[in-house]
Parts: sequence; structure tokens; C-alpha cells
Amino acid sequence: MIVTTSTLFKHAYGKYAIGAYNINNVEQTMGLFQGNVQSKAPFIVQLSKGARSYTHKLMLEAMMTAADQIFPDAIFAVHLDHGDEATCMDCIKSGVYSSVMIDASHEPFEKNVETTKRVVDEAHARGLVVEAELGVLKGVEEDVSADEHIYTKPAEAEEFVKLTGVDSLACAIGTSHGAFKFKGDQKLRFDILAEIQRRIPGCPLVMHGSSSVPQDEVARINAAGGNLKGAVGVDASQFLGAAKLGVTKINIDTDGRLVWCRVHREFFRDKPEKFDLRDPGKIFIPEYAKFIAAKNVLLGSAGQLDACRAAIMAEESCCNCACKCDCK
Ligand code: G3H
Ligand code: 13P
Ligand code: ZN
Repeated sequence: MIVTTSTLFKHAYGKYAIGAYNINNVEQTMGLFQGNVQSKAPFIVQLSKGARSYTHKLMLEAMMTAADQIFPDAIFAVHLDHGDEATCMDCIKSGVYSSVMIDASHEPFEKNVETTKRVVDEAHARGLVVEAELGVLKGVEEDVSADEHIYTKPAEAEEFVKLTGVDSLACAIGTSHGAFKFKGDQKLRFDILAEIQRRIPGCPLVMHGSSSVPQDEVARINAAGGNLKGAVGVDASQFLGAAKLGVTKINIDTDGRLVWCRVHREFFRDKPEKFDLRDPGKIFIPEYAKFIAAKNVLLGSAGQLDACRAAIMAEESCCNCACKCDCK
């Protein structure tokens, strides 16, 4: 069942975070859906601009509708990750996406507001919801790179949400994209999250750049010929603390790429005579599913599927009239 991210956030807010996983191909799609159904978790599939051009945007959309049929128990949102305005408008019209991210965070505040508002108006008119971003993550975000974090300013966050009517807000609190997130101790600014939650209570917040870059995974990749020295990620024991402060969506891409890299490096190291792509693919799919299921436990989303479904059904059966009946 494809639902909006807002539908998922309503059930999760203040209790747990929904995993938002980037995928690019059919093996990831199968592993992602298997892992979420096995761990009984609602989830978000993230499709980036890069993913949409890697094969073809229609291929990804077709994979989403096929997966919806193959996994009838799954409850998920189909979300554009880090979109520009044109890509957002294209996804809004696709009939497959339920949510888009407009990322104008590198623009001045006023321009970010204007662009976001245009996307929000179009999305809401067609029943979709929108994530936007304020602040800048250090490192590379799609086509733009930054040398330093520009943390989200809570007063601006409050004004931004009021002016744009956006449904969720990505905040910069010290995470970054990729496998090399921190030099020395990691410092995440939970004080900023707390202040944003105080100013805009109930507004779903998003943490990008939240892969954990497991050290055992890095060691296995390096032992199989990789060179990822100094790779380090976010401590996953922080996820539930972030969820209590209003973070309902936690973005994970890099960790999935590491699983892919480890499986394929080890496979071809150990079986140099092999060349059939399906051989490592058959290992990767269940390994990725296992990774997703374990991540959902850390996010608190594992085991929430039935309660989430019941909440959605209750909402749908409500007549929304003013009769004060018990249908809610
Ligand atoms: O935030 C970026 C995501 O990790 C997507 O990465 O643009 O290489 O698909 P990508
Ligand atoms: P990671 O690079 O930490 O996986 O972050 C992914 C992300 O934020 C996608 O938008
Ligand atoms: Zn991101």
C-alpha cells in the first residue's frame, strides 16, 4: 500500500522513526521490501535524481508499482530525495510518488521559501506531501558541496514552516552524506532539535546523512581489496533519542551501498572463476533484507506495521463529519 510520508509520520511522531532507504536497482528493491515485511515495519523508499537517471525514471516507478503487488502487506511511501523544482513537478505528476523533497537549502532563505511554496502548492493540490530543508550538511548534497555544516536556526525553521506550509523539515544538526562523516568525536546538535520541537511541536523532522557505516562492514570490505580507511558514521543508538525530539524520518543510503560492496567484493575474491551476476545477487538480496530488518529495530519501526495499518484504516473509515461519533 503506497501512502504519503505524512500518514506514516502521524503514527510515528514522538515514538519511533521511519527508515527512508535509497534504492537504485531491482536487487535493492527486492531486499528492501523483504526486509521491511519480515521486520513488520512501515518504510519510505527514496529515489534520488541520480537513481532516476541511472536506469530510467520509468523503470524505478514501474519497480515501485510491481513491488506493491508482490508485497501486498507492505506499507510504504515513494519519495523523491533531494529534488530540484523541475524534478519535483515531474514526480508530482507521475502518479507513483506520494511525497517529494524540494531541496533549495543552498539558496538564500527567501528563495528557499518561494521555491518550496510553489512545490507545496502543486503537491497538495494533487494529494502529495512535501519535505524541504533548512541549513546545509557538510559534504556533498546532490550537485552542491559545502566545507562546513550550517546548522538549522530554530527561529528560521518556525518561520519557514509557517510561510511554506511544508509537511516535514530536514534539519542540519551535524550529520553528513557518505561514508566519512566525522573526524574525531561525533557531535550531533540535539539541542537544536529540541528547540525546533519546542517552537513547532508536531512538525515531523528529518535527519539526512544518518548511515552508521558499521566498522565490521568496513573491515570486511577492506579485507576484500577495498580502501575505505577512516570511514565512520552516525551512532545508531542515537536514533530513538532523535525520534523523541520529533525526528520521524531517518535517511540511509551509504550503509546499503556498503552491504552491496562487501557482498560483491567477497564473492569475486572467493570465487574468481564466477561471472554470472545472479550468483552474487542471490547473496545480496537476503543480506540487504537482513540489514534493513536490523536497522528497523534500531529505528523503533520494527513491529509497528500492524498498528500503523490499523491507524490508517481507522482514519479512512472516519466520516469526518461533525456528528461526534466514535469513528475516530
Ligand atoms: O543524499 C544523497 C543520497 O545518498 C543519494 O545519493 O545522489 O548518489 O543517488 P545519489
Ligand atoms: P547517508 O549517506 O548517510 O546514507 O545519507 C543518505 C541521505 O541522507 C539520503 O538523502
Ligand atoms: Zn540526504
